[in-house]
Formats: sequence, structure tokens, C-alpha cells
Amino acid sequence: MNAPLIPPAGARLLRTVSIAGTGAYIPEKVLTNADLARLVQTTDEWIVSRTGMKERHMARPDEAASDMGAAAARQALAAAGLAPTEVGLIICASITPDMPFPSTACFVQRLLGATNAYGFDITAACSGFIYAAEVAKNAIATGSVDTALIIGAERLTGAVDWEDRTTCVLFGDGAGAAVLRAQGAPHGIRSSILGSDGRLAELLMLPGGGSRHPTSLETIQQRLHYMKMSGREVFKHAVTKMIEAAQTALQRAGLTIDDVDVIIPHQANLRIVEAIGQRLGAPKEKYFINIEKYGNISAASVPVALDEAVRAGRIKKGDTVLLIAFGGGFTWGSMVVEWDRD
Ligand SMILES: CC(C)(COP(=O)(O)OP(=O)(O)OC[C@H]1O[C@@H](n2cnc3c(N)ncnc32)[C@H](O)[C@@H]1OP(=O)(O)O)[C@@H](O)C(=O)NCCC(=O)NCCS
Repeated sequence: MNAPLIPPAGARLLRTVSIAGTGAYIPEKVLTNADLARLVQTTDEWIVSRTGMKERHMARPDEAASDMGAAAARQALAAAGLAPTEVGLIICASITPDMPFPSTACFVQRLLGATNAYGFDITAACSGFIYAAEVAKNAIATGSVDTALIIGAERLTGAVDWEDRTTCVLFGDGAGAAVLRAQGAPHGIRSSILGSDGRLAELLMLPGGGSRHPTSLETIQQRLHYMKMSGREVFKHAVTKMIEAAQTALQRAGLTIDDVDVIIPHQANLRIVEAIGQRLGAPKEKYFINIEKYGNISAASVPVALDEAVRAGRIKKGDTVLLIAFGGGFTWGSMVVEWDRD
């Protein structure tokens, strides 16, 4: 790669990094609100009015995060016009990895035949894709690799408690991917901000199966292998942190919300997006929303929405795109991208 080096604010020379291709994979099986109402005490009316969700998709029993991630990655590579062997780095963001180790990124690498890459996973819950994008961007900007594949892949239907109506209605399965590259564009990824606050970890977690509570009959009986969430608290923090993150990312890019053409928010709850929209001062037409089809797919949420927006022609060359996410940890992140491909 002979991408030009441009001088950054500091002393070192950094390359600009672009999103060269996106992809997504959503499993076929649909789970409607009516299906859920047969499982737990809930109604279509409650779910739609409280969340905006109508359907979510469920992976087949033989489909793991890496299978979905690899399918999304193949699309992203095709969109970028690259072969798997041209990838130098694979980062997979997931809270539902295939297994504790090896990493899901290594399984994706094997499925793709991306033999020239190194790979690892990132755990940042629903902010995972933006975390992965930031790490990959830095690796490319500094010249450590030329091409990175970043993936958000989740099989959340295996992590929710199907007896807990406060969580099981919210989540679905799927994967999204993007190829990041130094290709000499003037801007590419213009700015980003990441944050986390471990003091609030208990508000959203899956406590069992790790070194704190290794899997045992007892942890299973206590249902510790399922996600736990204090929804109302999470909601409040999500709104505050997503707004702050977006404002900081815009400030770092030297832009205002009026300069943004398309906003891709993490799709956790339509009311969260509406609350953010009001406070950020962007008209709702700028938000790309697909929550009604997929529910919350955690780390896959932002890349799936990004890919759909690109394929639907909502994002065009020269557009400024604002990504915003929030998730367990707590973690949050925002990124401003100038879209430099047709
Ligand atoms: C989970 C969430 C949808 C719940 O909506 P809410 O308006 O906050 O609802 P509450 O938790 O206050 O519950 C209101 C009532 O609905 C009930 N309820 C909860 N889930 C229900 C369901 N699926 N169907 C019917 N009723 C339900 C509650 O039991 C409660 O009943 P009560 O008033 O008798 O106690 C919302 O808090 C949310 O989206 N939080 C953030 C989730 C999130 O972003 N998670 C991922 C982070 S990225």
C-alpha cells in the first residue's frame, strides 16, 4: 500500500483510514412479538410502545457468532473488492463469543482463510463495534497493518433468560462487518471518542461462566448464565452518555450536528434514540433505524445498520456519518466518518 502520509496534530505521521466496505448477516428465523407473548407475560402493544421492536431473528442451533461474523465479513470484503488474504488484522466484538477461547476472531479467520491476519476479540458489549473500529483505525493509521476487518457478531438468544420478560423480548442475533483501509482519502474516519465506567457494571451483566462464578450446577440453578439488566437505569445512562459521546466526537472533528448527514445509533430502544435526537438537535430523518426488524443485536447493531444504510443508498459519497453506541460495562463510543466510496 502506498497511501499518502499526512501530518497529524502531533509530531508523528499518520495515515487517514477509510471504511472500504460493509456487510451484514441476519439469520433467517424470525421471532415476532406474538411469538414472545406465547412464552412470557407480554404483549405486542407493550413491546412496540416501550421499545419500537416488532421482530428479532434467531440463529440456527448450529450457528455460532463466528459463522454469522464470517458471513458478514465475506460481504464486507466483496464490497471492498478484497480477498481474505489481503486482511492484516481481524477484530471481533462480541459478548456471545463461540467459546471463552480461542477467540471468535480466530474462528472467523479460519472460516475465511484469512491466513495473513492476526486476530483477537473485544468485549465492550453494545459499544464493541466502535471500540473495534478505533483499535483498527489506530493500527492502520500508524502503519502497523494496511487492512483490517472489524466484526460485531452476536448470538444473544442463547444468553437471555427465556423466563425473564424484562430482557428476553429485547435481544436478537446477527452480525455486521466493515473493512477498514488506508486508501489515501482526505478524511475517512475523522474523529472518535470511547469511554467506560466499571462502577456501573452490575446494572448490565452476564455474571456466570467466568472466573468470578465458574459454571457449576449451583450457578446454573441460580440462572447466572443469563443476562441481568436494570433496564430503567441503563436507559438513563445510555441517553446521557450517547449524547455526550456524540457531542465530543463532533467537537473533535471540528463539526456540528448540522454537518452530519446520517446518524447510526446503537439500536437498543426507539425511545432512547428519540431522546438523543431531541437533545442533539438533529431531525429524525437523519437517524437510520432498523430496530423494528432486529431488536437489540448488541455489537452487531451499529455495523448492521451501517451496512443497510449504505446498501439502501441512505449514505452516499461525501456524506458525514455519525456512529453512536452504549452498552454494558458501562461502555460508550462515537465516531465521525466521512464516507469516501460510491
Ligand atoms: C427494558 C426497557 C424496555 C423497559 O422499559 P421501561 O419503560 O423502562 O419499563 P420498566 O422497566 O419501568 O417496567 C415497567 C413495567 O413493565 C413491566 N414489564 C417489563 N417487561 C415487560 C414486558 N416484556 N412485557 C410487559 N410488561 C413488562 C415491568 O414489570 C413493569 O411493571 P410494574 O410497573 O408493574 O413493575 C427499557 O428500560 C430499556 O430499553 N432500557 C435500556 C435497555 C438497553 O438499552 N439495554 C442494552 C444496553 S445497550
